[in-house]
Amino acid sequence: MRRGSTATTIAALALAATAAPAMAADTVGSPGAGDPFFPLAGNGGIDVTNYSLDLAYQPASHQLSGTATLQIHATQDLSRFDLDLRGFDVGTVTVNGVEASVARDGQELMITPSHAVRTGDAFTVVVPYAGQPQTVIDPDGSSEGWVYTSDGAAVVGEPQGSPAWYPANDTPRDKATFTVSMTVPSGLTAVGNGSLQSQTTVNGVTTFTWRESYPMAPYLATITLGRFDVTTGTTPSGIPTYIAVDPRQASSASAVLRKLPAMVSFLENLYGSYPFETVGAIVDDAPQLGYSLETQTKPVFDDAPDEVTLLHELSHMWFGDAVTLGSWPDIWLHEGFATWSEWIWTEQQGGKSAAQRFKQLANTPAQQTSFWNPPPGDPGDAQHLFDGTIYQRGAMTLEALRERIGDAQFTDLLRTWYAENRYGTVTTADFVALAERVSGQDLRQFFDEWLYQPGKPSSLLDGSAATTPVG
Ligand code: ARG
Ligand code: ZN
Repeated sequence: MRRGSTATTIAALALAATAAPAMAADTVGSPGAGDPFFPLAGNGGIDVTNYSLDLAYQPASHQLSGTATLQIHATQDLSRFDLDLRGFDVGTVTVNGVEASVARDGQELMITPSHAVRTGDAFTVVVPYAGQPQTVIDPDGSSEGWVYTSDGAAVVGEPQGSPAWYPANDTPRDKATFTVSMTVPSGLTAVGNGSLQSQTTVNGVTTFTWRESYPMAPYLATITLGRFDVTTGTTPSGIPTYIAVDPRQASSASAVLRKLPAMVSFLENLYGSYPFETVGAIVDDAPQLGYSLETQTKPVFDDAPDEVTLLHELSHMWFGDAVTLGSWPDIWLHEGFATWSEWIWTEQQGGKSAAQRFKQLANTPAQQTSFWNPPPGDPGDAQHLFDGTIYQRGAMTLEALRERIGDAQFTDLLRTWYAENRYGTVTTADFVALAERVSGQDLRQFFDEWLYQPGKPSSLLDGSAATTPVG
């Protein structure tokens, strides 16, 4: 419904635009970046290079207010372009310091600069905004965006929550650097991505300024706030750590959090050097959230994580945050990899091996269709984006591949995948192509069966081993 009415409005505005001189319809930036599951997420014609968010939050009144300054590179001539923003009152928007006209339609913030922007131009957009941030309810029923907690908010954006707190080009294909400054009542801590630039208290309020200087997909930004105990340190390889724990979770979280530096070392040895400047964790007390998210450099946890959950989110720094899907149906490239990372960590800790785990899961009867469907490479719709198969059968796909091409080539594949793609975006087809290149094998049928065919993979049906070559 929302999609239909938006499309109609966009079409009407595009028609109106053609009537004005020097405003051909094809210079209106598209309202979406073309994702099959989230057609209005992201926008056409713009490439954001830096977000600078200067914000303040009042937990008592739920008021968020401030200014977003976006540095943008135009990838087409633009008489008009959109950003994504959910809710808020928007003040006077400027483009290169000159007032622009603004219209709203759902999550589209449509900006018409007084002078059209040309392909290749770098320009600055300033958006002042204020209001109560929204919690976004996803097609799978989970909460994201600004998730209210008893002492602040857990702020998470996968896959579509970021516009609940800042104007974004909300597509994973448009990574950018971020500076986020957040002012909160003293006693509260605002935890963001990257490194803490400054923390100053004046007149009962504290301003935290965070800088993420590595490219970050908009959905991975956070500014989670509340009461936190903070500890800092460094990993064995010298990465500074910042760990914020809600005091209510402190005693149950401490033993697992002590393993964080060792987990980072483990993942560095396995996949290659840590991709970012800092690492850490935000352990909140957020039953309203109910899951964890790999927010860049500092994953957010809804409560004290168990060991494999911490490992899972940290592994996403390599696969998810550094090497990122370009469209949401490819989500197994994040969740399958993070789940396989859990298995291999457990194996190296002396627990069940990844091969044993695979074998056990492979015994799941074909009749248990909810275990096997949807196939991990084709979730079907946004409601099934985070289904169990994306994680379990996604990880099984990797373990089956490992057994098919051998451990040495499999390790080489994952390391090359990371080295060649970090800070960029990828597709499943890219991964299949690299697997074939590294192994020298034709793996089309293997991946088709594991990733795209519903039901239990036929190579497992007659009890034949996963190592049996297909075809
Ligand atoms: N990526 C998260 C993980 O590590 C899950 C996010 C779930 N989000 C959602 N909207 N259902 O597993
Ligand atoms: Zn995950």
